[in-house]
Amino acid sequence: MSDVVIRRAIEADVSDMNSIYNHYIVDSHVSFDVDAWSVDKRLDWFRSRVAGGYPVLVACDRDEIIGVSWAGPWQLKRAYRSSVETTVVLAPGSVGGGVGTQLYSALLDALRSEGFHRAYAIIALPNDPSIVLHENLGYREIGVLDEAGFKDGRYRSTMLMELALD
Ligand SMILES: CC(C)(COP(=O)(O)OP(=O)(O)OC[C@H]1O[C@@H](n2cnc3c(N)ncnc32)[C@H](O)[C@@H]1OP(=O)(O)O)[C@@H](O)C(=O)NCCC(=O)NCCS
Repeated sequence: MSDVVIRRAIEADVSDMNSIYNHYIVDSHVSFDVDAWSVDKRLDWFRSRVAGGYPVLVACDRDEIIGVSWAGPWQLKRAYRSSVETTVVLAPGSVGGGVGTQLYSALLDALRSEGFHRAYAIIALPNDPSIVLHENLGYREIGVLDEAGFKDGRYRSTMLMELALD
């Protein structure tokens, strides 16, 4: 972990970021997306995040991208503009070593410095490492949406967590 660098993502990172997140779309319940994204779709998404003023960060171990974290709109109605939804995923071989805490802390620092007021995370259950990560960084549980999604042949519940950023 000592060699890990956290920085803003650039367009050249999008393919690696997409591969990491697609793993969780295709091989886990963690993302409620169902179909893998193409690189072009992820690039359009990345450009809209940057244009919208939302931070997208990557964790790099030497030249390899091993994690990505981003914020996006919590809801599209304009009064929600002060709130964001936050996400963090690591490459499967990089979990459990503290990079998630390092990367997500940097995202929250960026959100604070950019003046956002509230951050929300939606965690597909079960996901104890993610719940502990969010609690450690100050998020609190708002509630559980019972069987809000259907993936991999069964209904899945999600936990909504909230962080006061300022
Ligand atoms: C969730 C994730 C980002 C956390 O990053 P990480 O680097 O693995 O986590 P860290 O090593 O920083 O540990 C975070 C905390 O979780 C705890 N933790 C790890 N595994 C755990 C488990 N199975 N049960 C309970 N707590 C656990 C750690 O002990 C640590 O808490 P501590 O600092 O109080 O000891 C990472 O595991 C990941 O990418 N998982 C798959 C994708 C995912 O679920 N993303 C979140 C979507 S909501």
